Amino acid sequence: MERPEIIMAPGPTPVPPEVLLAQGSPLVYHRGPGYGDLLREVTESLKKIFRTYNDVVIFASSGTGGLESAVANLFSPGDTVIVPVAGYFGDRFARIAQAFGQDVRRLDYEWGLAIRPEDVKAALAETPGVKGVLVQHSETSTGVVNDIEAIGRVTREASVLLVVDVISSLGAVPYEGDAWGIDVAVGGSQKAFSATPGLSFVSISGAAWEATKKARNPRFYFDWAQYKKSYELASPENPFTPAISLMLGMRAALRRYFEEGPDAVLERHRILSAAVKEGVRALGLDLSGEHLGSGGHRWRRARGQGPSRPRDHPGAGPGADEGPGVSHRPPRQLRPIRYHSVPGRPRAHPGGDGVSREAWIGCGGRGGRLRRDAVRALFRLARKVVTAGP
Ligand SMILES: Cc1ncc(COP(=O)(O)O)c(C=O)c1O
Repeated sequence: MERPEIIMAPGPTPVPPEVLLAQGSPLVYHRGPGYGDLLREVTESLKKIFRTYNDVVIFASSGTGGLESAVANLFSPGDTVIVPVAGYFGDRFARIAQAFGQDVRRLDYEWGLAIRPEDVKAALAETPGVKGVLVQHSETSTGVVNDIEAIGRVTREASVLLVVDVISSLGAVPYEGDAWGIDVAVGGSQKAFSATPGLSFVSISGAAWEATKKARNPRFYFDWAQYKKSYELASPENPFTPAISLMLGMRAALRRYFEEGPDAVLERHRILSAAVKEGVRALGLDLSGEHLGSGGHRWRRARGQGPSRPRDHPGAGPGADEGPGVSHRPPRQLRPIRYHSVPGRPRAHPGGDGVSREAWIGCGGRGGRLRRDAVRALFRLARKVVTAGP
């Protein structure tokens, strides 16, 4: 076997052997009780991480498929949506909406800036008939985490749907689906969960379900209603053949997540992030992007602040503070060597001296299994960037 590549990216992140082994285990038949149990466990676990009592559906697609599903299910051609664009993935969300014939009002920012809730509020005030706001929680291309809680207050006040891309933030930074009033959130398997790429998950609020009834955008494979119907069978199923092996891997990844404990996972990511930033600063490099300290957002969930059970969901799944499999173990102390990070390809400065002095560094997932040489490689590369001559 070839020496495994050391992946140092926000995603895919390194996949632990248990997850790979689970993924390589024999299939379960997808119209039988074995798959029903698997689907139930994965969706219930995801609800705890999304911090919601709303429905969660899972697609055999990368995260982009989940984003597309939101546009396809919520809107009709010509509907107006506001899309703040402060990086590559904001631009992608705008382009998906354009592809479906939405009237896209972009709120363009210089990359590296955080989206300002007051800008969203002003855009909503001056644009009549807005149906939704589409935004990233973590804009992976710049490393900036946006204040979704504050943006949620703005969209709630305006009675507009809030659709949040949490692909690189879910499980890595604090997120409160119900408490922040998120209508739709889209996550992916390959980032903080350290599962392999290929699954997207979408949480859908009651208001979002209402919107689907009027929405006329074309959809078939990503039609949420088909999934809901199949999930509500006595033994839950998928409307189409599911990615059974990926689901087996995802279940193993989620078991590991809850074994470590949600708070401990957040704390691990906080430490990894701080370690990478400190390491980079120690090399004499500047960091770009807003919210670089830990002050930009809360890293820890406040205890006891679980989503309150909605009156119309008396039997819905438990929040992350309740239910089986939730560990309240204190976060483990991590040694800084456990971080992982991504040295990016040098870019030329437009209008500068032509010498690249930029690198893109991110962190996510389980870095604990990375070897020392991965960390050394990072610093070798970073040093090259610093010392590159004209
Ligand atoms: C914030 C964000 N949105 C969307 C995507 C696209 O997800 P995928 O590559 O899984 O389709 C990514 C992936 O890196 C991401 O980080």
